[in-house]
Amino acid sequence: MKKKQISIIGSTGSIGTQALEVIEKIRDKFEILALAGGDNIELINKQIRQFKPKTVCVKSFEAKTRLEKEFPDVKLLGGDEGLEEICSNKENDLIVIAVSGKIGLKPTLAAVKNKINIALANKETLVMAGEIVMKTAKENGVNILPIDSEHCAIHQCIKNIANVERLIITASGGPFLNKSIDEIKNATPEQTLAHPQWNMGKKITVDSATLMNKGLEVIEAHHLFGISYENIDVIIHPQSLVHSAIEYVDGSVIAQIGLPSMHIPIQYALTYPERIEGIKSKSFSFLDAKRFDFEQPDLEKFPCLKLAYAAGEAGGIAPVCLNAANEEAVFAFLQGKIKLYEISQIVEKMLSQHTTVKSPSIEEVFEIDSEIRAKTIELIR
Ligand SMILES: NC(=O)c1ccc[n+]([C@@H]2O[C@H](COP(=O)([O-])OP(=O)(O)OC[C@H]3O[C@@H](n4cnc5c(N)ncnc54)[C@H](OP(=O)(O)O)[C@@H]3O)[C@@H](O)[C@H]2O)c1
Repeated sequence: MKKKQISIIGSTGSIGTQALEVIEKIRDKFEILALAGGDNIELINKQIRQFKPKTVCVKSFEAKTRLEKEFPDVKLLGGDEGLEEICSNKENDLIVIAVSGKIGLKPTLAAVKNKINIALANKETLVMAGEIVMKTAKENGVNILPIDSEHCAIHQCIKNIANVERLIITASGGPFLNKSIDEIKNATPEQTLAHPQWNMGKKITVDSATLMNKGLEVIEAHHLFGISYENIDVIIHPQSLVHSAIEYVDGSVIAQIGLPSMHIPIQYALTYPERIEGIKSKSFSFLDAKRFDFEQPDLEKFPCLKLAYAAGEAGGIAPVCLNAANEEAVFAFLQGKIKLYEISQIVEKMLSQHTTVKSPSIEEVFEIDSEIRAKTIELIR
């Protein structure tokens, strides 16, 4: 059987490295065409030796020159243009978009326009330009396979989307689920980065602590599955064993359950529609699980979730504002410039200032994104 030609954008991150672990287990099924990382040159160096990609992209042109000398047989690229070049190569059967934040949008669009299927971890892409990306994917016959465990769960549950009434997205609740508002207000980056269930990149870990991550996932789900916001529920489930569920019009609920490991959704997206044992290391046991707890999210403690619903429902450029303000506020929090609780206040302020553009073009999306980022940085200063 012909090997799947695959590229990974963000191969040195949490999702990227786990995608390579999945591929390592089923090496006979894949050929790595390209890898792209940011600043972690040591790791990408190791990945080049192990997976022998034909093309590699790194963030800085200085690092590109260094790697060029070391790997004369590899085509080296640099910067955002390099990511788009990789994603425009029609030899790809599948591209994993595993960068964090707004960097994911341009490469995803390039791949979709070139009729290349996507395994999408980068939720910010659909938050910023869900309508444009999904419409372009449909026009080009491109499959967007979600890697986010909740959306992967929903993808697995859906047989006929026309009969789906409601999506139920689960959330672990993050490190501050049972903390008071005062404790959340004074949380340090270190406490915020100590997620109880998942080991992820810094940006998504902070988003998980504020529940903005769940809000971004609600918007992502709306675009992926075409379900209205009023029919997307979020429910806290601290054990992270039920990864999400759907309710059909007849009242039947189908949930996807499994051990909390990102290897499972990543492998699902990489091998879809095939199912194989691959990287599986353990079977799920209801007896070991013992408890399945559920509770309503507290929107007073976690206002970001409320803001994301509001931005999603407003549509147009509101989610672009939400995403840009949040990303800049998260960076500022990680640098110790603001408190955790100020993230929601900054996002709310930016959302209240945006002018309405109902169906923004992709150029308008990037323009507004830059504008909001500049305003957010100014506000933080
Ligand atoms: N981690 C999870 O379990 C998880 C689960 C569900 C969804 N997601 C989503 O998946 C995405 C990635 O999350 P993550 O946790 O894997 O993030 P991460 O660990 O921070 O990884 C980000 C990746 O992007 C690379 N990168 C950063 N700037 C770049 C640039 N300018 N050009 C090229 N590459 C660049 C980083 O490279 P360097 O490290 O080399 O700088 C790294 O490889 C996010 O959108 C997140 O919401 C993650």
